[in-house]
Amino acid sequence: MDLFVSRLMSQMTLEEKLGQLNLPVGGDIVTGGAHSSLSAEHIRQGKVGGLFNLKGASAIREIQRIAVEESRLGIPLLFGMDVIHGYETVFPIPLGLSCSWDMEAIERSAQVAAREATADGICWTFSPMVDVCHDGRWGRISEGSGEDPYLGSRIAEAMVRGYQGASLADSATMMACVKHFALYGLVEAGREYNNVYPDDFHAFNEYMQPYKAAVDAGAGSVMAAFNTIHGVPCTGNQWLLNDLLRKQWGFQGFVVSDYCGLEQLQAHGVQADLEQSAIQCLEAGLDMDMVSDGLVSLADAVREGRCSKKAVDIACRRMLEAKYRLGLFDNPYKYCDTTRREQVILCPEHRAEARRIAGECMVLLKNEKELLPLQKKGTIALIGPLADTRANMSGTWAVAAVPGRYKTVKEGLEDALRGTGARLLYAKGSNLMYDAGQEAIATMFGREMRDSRSAEAMRAEALGIARKADVIVAAMGEASEMSGECASRVDIEMPDAQHDLLVELLKLGKPVVLVHFAGRPTVLNWEAEHLPAIIESWFSGSESADAIADVLFGEVNPSGRLTVQLPRHVGQYPFSYRQMRTSRPNEGGTFVKYITCYSDVSSKPLYPFGYGLSYTDFVYSDFFLTDSIMPLDGQVEAHVTVTNTGKRAGAEIVQLYIGDRVAKGVRPYKELRGFERLTLEAGESREVVFVLDAGRMGYYEPEHLSWTLEPGEVEIMVGANSRDTQMRLLHVE
Ligand code: BGC
Repeated sequence: MDLFVSRLMSQMTLEEKLGQLNLPVGGDIVTGGAHSSLSAEHIRQGKVGGLFNLKGASAIREIQRIAVEESRLGIPLLFGMDVIHGYETVFPIPLGLSCSWDMEAIERSAQVAAREATADGICWTFSPMVDVCHDGRWGRISEGSGEDPYLGSRIAEAMVRGYQGASLADSATMMACVKHFALYGLVEAGREYNNVYPDDFHAFNEYMQPYKAAVDAGAGSVMAAFNTIHGVPCTGNQWLLNDLLRKQWGFQGFVVSDYCGLEQLQAHGVQADLEQSAIQCLEAGLDMDMVSDGLVSLADAVREGRCSKKAVDIACRRMLEAKYRLGLFDNPYKYCDTTRREQVILCPEHRAEARRIAGECMVLLKNEKELLPLQKKGTIALIGPLADTRANMSGTWAVAAVPGRYKTVKEGLEDALRGTGARLLYAKGSNLMYDAGQEAIATMFGREMRDSRSAEAMRAEALGIARKADVIVAAMGEASEMSGECASRVDIEMPDAQHDLLVELLKLGKPVVLVHFAGRPTVLNWEAEHLPAIIESWFSGSESADAIADVLFGEVNPSGRLTVQLPRHVGQYPFSYRQMRTSRPNEGGTFVKYITCYSDVSSKPLYPFGYGLSYTDFVYSDFFLTDSIMPLDGQVEAHVTVTNTGKRAGAEIVQLYIGDRVAKGVRPYKELRGFERLTLEAGESREVVFVLDAGRMGYYEPEHLSWTLEPGEVEIMVGANSRDTQMRLLHVE
């Protein structure tokens, strides 16, 4: 590769080298304020290194042909896309997917996404998004794996493995891009595109690990975040890109900016013009410029000595290496086989996989008197604005979705009940919310579902059919565009019109099951207090309708566990189970003066991290450590036996937490350091063993930020969630 790239570079002009660093948007999918001036002529002149958001093997083949046959050196282009949670077969939004805690399933979802996207010409995805977030106000919490860096790291690795497979040379794999580097999940107060202000100790212990895990797993590229770190925009941040990512972590791939991230150095007020912005970013370690047309315009600056020629060579080399690794120099058309689409995209096998995985992601929050699973008999009233909408099923950031080919919840339930004699009645019951203007924002990009009838008329219709039913299933919550990019919110409760409808439905005295839709943790206090059963379904992708039916009627026993805790009040944010030890701890959860809490809301979440119910029961027993003392360089095992004491098979996520009681840097009371997903038959028991050592139990100590375990007492805890744990003490010497 070195030789090949060196030879090629020796023939390249400065303009051609800069061209490799240029990533304009192409095609008809716009994910930002596109303004890039793409033309075939630019490709012929070698001024384009890649394109994104163009799909279709024949369209891409034609553009690749221009690059390969009509440009001077015939260098192939990269074709990228936001393939975030599946392609046309859509998997649950990443936050939902993470609730499966199933690394094999998550890896397979990325593999399926790669198989489909590559059949449509794509060789590079802007995923995984690994931003840890403790703030449900931030709309993009939907795109990540929740609030925990340990779990987030395991998921990041699984996604990279799934996308890239054993080799990028395989034409059914694509290059991953870890984003958004770094700390985007910390935007102040959850306000989109805001700055972040972490100290390094917290950044490394709470937020950085998933990026590093993805890099260690071999991710081929990294995307710089929009936000600043240490006051400097990430896109032009020398410390972040060159020092941390490359020198410390040994990253070998290339760094791409986010959409117009380069020119935004001017909006940030750190540079006065595009050329200065481009120079800063290039010299800080940015290799590819998404849409700003900044790096491609640097020729004069290089010739006149304002910009380093060496930095151009380094970035160009990295771009050519990426293309080499993908095998594009051997066969630039390897992703342009037009026969593959038919066999692969949205094929029954992929849809079945997506349905199965969607079922694993739903979290059963409440199930009083075993109301669920429902029996397939009698009359069921399906009510709510999310019950009969196709476009809202896949969730945010599903740019290749084809909603016309997905079922609505109503259709999913109808199919499940066909031939059973059970009757399904449906009414929409309410709009998403009373305010039409707000609803228009919440349902942009073709998710519209506004009904012109009055609220009273819709409600009367719904109550009319609900009266005839034995049980009411309410499909309610957020529309899919209420989360995602530019969808930060301070009101994260059930939207008003739907809340009022629920209140009226409940007055009928019939059991109400809430199938909740959300792209974030929401406040469900009223629902948890009044409704007998709640399923958090997130947005579960193209197969969500069938998956919801599977869970409702018990074909699938729910096994999802929350990867973000659900708050009691939006004012609790930022909020996470990873509460650091404070000077005046709140141990009781109730108000006592002079401790860390609010006086008007509990310090506890409504539902804790790791929580979720099943249609069966699990009992934890025989929890022991093989030794109560562990030398710093030694190992001890934690054993626990889990028994399925219920009447049906089910999956349990056994969780291991540690609480380091004495460390130089303040530690959380509990932090996840292991988990295992077990499927147990009714009556079956299994022992789970976690190996404890400095690798598993360490942290980035405050002085040098090096991974360390210090002597002292460490609480070792196991349980079904972060609240309900048993503890044994381990002395580390
Ligand atoms: C988002 C990225 C995305 C990019 C390209 C940006 O606005 O922040 O996550 O990959 O657009 O669509």
